[in-house]
Amino acid sequence: MVKFENVSVDYLYSEGLKDINIEFPDKEFSLILGATGSGKSTLLRLIYMDIEPTSGIVEVGQWSSRKVSARKIKKLRRSVGVVFQDFRLIENMSVYENVALPLIIEGYSRKYIKRKVETIIDEIGLLDSINQKAGTLSKGEEQRVAIARAIVKNPFVLLADEPTGNLDPESSVTVFNLLKKINKLGTAVIMATHDYLLIKDAPYRRVMMDCGRISENQEIE
Ligand SMILES: Nc1ncnc2c1ncn2[C@@H]1O[C@H](COP(=O)(O)OP(=O)(O)OP(=O)(O)O)[C@@H](O)[C@H]1O
Ligand SMILES: [Mg+2]
Repeated sequence: MVKFENVSVDYLYSEGLKDINIEFPDKEFSLILGATGSGKSTLLRLIYMDIEPTSGIVEVGQWSSRKVSARKIKKLRRSVGVVFQDFRLIENMSVYENVALPLIIEGYSRKYIKRKVETIIDEIGLLDSINQKAGTLSKGEEQRVAIARAIVKNPFVLLADEPTGNLDPESSVTVFNLLKKINKLGTAVIMATHDYLLIKDAPYRRVMMDCGRISENQEIE
């Protein structure tokens, strides 16, 4: 569960968010929509605790923004996966190495890592490219690898900030389908997007943002 209680963020020259109250239950797929500058990325950054609220409280699973420390944020990020518009892969490392890296850092056994990474790369449909350098993949493939890397530690929530922003329509559909599949398997997904055509028929909750506020919170059954 992710919960915002009276959360505001003041940036130096602008207000990022104003008095946000919202909950994102486990296993739910939520779409964050709204014009550029409306606060979508700020909302997501609060969840992976890249920034702290100026006032109010953000609770993410067992963690609270009231009691953050570098060590706690490191632990929190085992439970929160993040993907960005620009993928942020290590281009001269292979698909396998990119996905394995978070597990290597955590000190998992080689055997566990091999099994886990191969399973996930199979799920994203890139087993044939497992030894290919990330920088030589298509953009759609790069985003699928970034998603694999974000879920390799079995997070309870996956955040996606404009994950299809750099992709053509066909790759966007593939990436969105992958996020849907991950959600079906039990991970909450919170996705900020401008791509209204892509999400048009998706049966997911829509959270509309406008000038740092939530203007609409539409549940879809
Ligand atoms: N690091 C920052 N420093 C100062 N102001 C910021 C910072 N990040 C965001 N802002 C401001 O906060 C507001 C919300 O920005 P945010 O990036 O959350 O919007 P967004 O909805 O993600 O926009 P976009 O659709 O363009 O990605 C904007 O007015 C923006 O200029
Ligand atoms: Mg943004």
